[in-house]
Amino acid sequence: MKTDPESFIRANTGILSPPHVPEIRLHLASEAHDLWLKTEEELEAIGLPPPFWAFAWAGGQGLARYVLDHPDTVRGRSVVDFASGSGLVAIAAMLAGAAEVLAVDIDPWTETAVRLNAELNGVPVGFLGRDIIGHERAADVYLAGDVFYDKGFADLLQPWFDTLQRAGAVVVVGDPGRAYCPRDQLTALATYEVPVTRALEDSEVKRTTVWRFGAGDAANQGPPARVIG
Ligand SMILES: C[S@@+](CC[C@H](N)C(=O)[O-])C[C@H]1O[C@@H](n2cnc3c(N)ncnc32)[C@H](O)[C@@H]1O
Repeated sequence: MKTDPESFIRANTGILSPPHVPEIRLHLASEAHDLWLKTEEELEAIGLPPPFWAFAWAGGQGLARYVLDHPDTVRGRSVVDFASGSGLVAIAAMLAGAAEVLAVDIDPWTETAVRLNAELNGVPVGFLGRDIIGHERAADVYLAGDVFYDKGFADLLQPWFDTLQRAGAVVVVGDPGRAYCPRDQLTALATYEVPVTRALEDSEVKRTTVWRFGAGDAANQGPPARVIG
């Protein structure tokens, strides 16, 4: 029998605030839920890809914190939250005054997670479930929390983010020291100590840096772009 995403999310998560972003509430897997103890085989049996959307990853928490504390990054601008997972960064961008935000993620379960989480925080967030890597610039600001954990993924993102920023977009990423983060092409904006879950990471706190794509410090903000969708 096909699992209904909304019922599943409501039954297997609790409403919690990520520790580094207490002003936002999300449907998250907590220790009270066994979602994070399920093996990939068990998840596959219920048709569920690994539930990245059920956690507020360190990179996303750092990036959301940065956006809330530096609202000028997004205020009045069109924003893409690329690889949105729960939608944490997208929600932070709307709360910080973005004109519009599109959460983009290829995991079909994230559409429901983003909708439920946006409702919880009383902000509108659009959703796109297509792979947009390589697509031309279609927003003023691209935000990406915790995306450099896989070499194949990082190898695709690096040239695309580079092209986007050369086309006038501001590309800001949050990264907790993942192996494939291309630090030599980035400019550090802020560093945070982000509490994380030991069951997912190898520690209880992850030093997380928010970076702007592009070396050097001259912001390359182009003319406003039309948001895809
Ligand atoms: C570690 S999670 C980060 C989620 C969220 N940004 C955060 O920081 O909490 C990585 C996310 O990347 C998404 N993802 C992987 N490949 C993608 C692609 N090609 N396009 C969009 N999202 C992708 C996954 O589905 C997952 O939700």
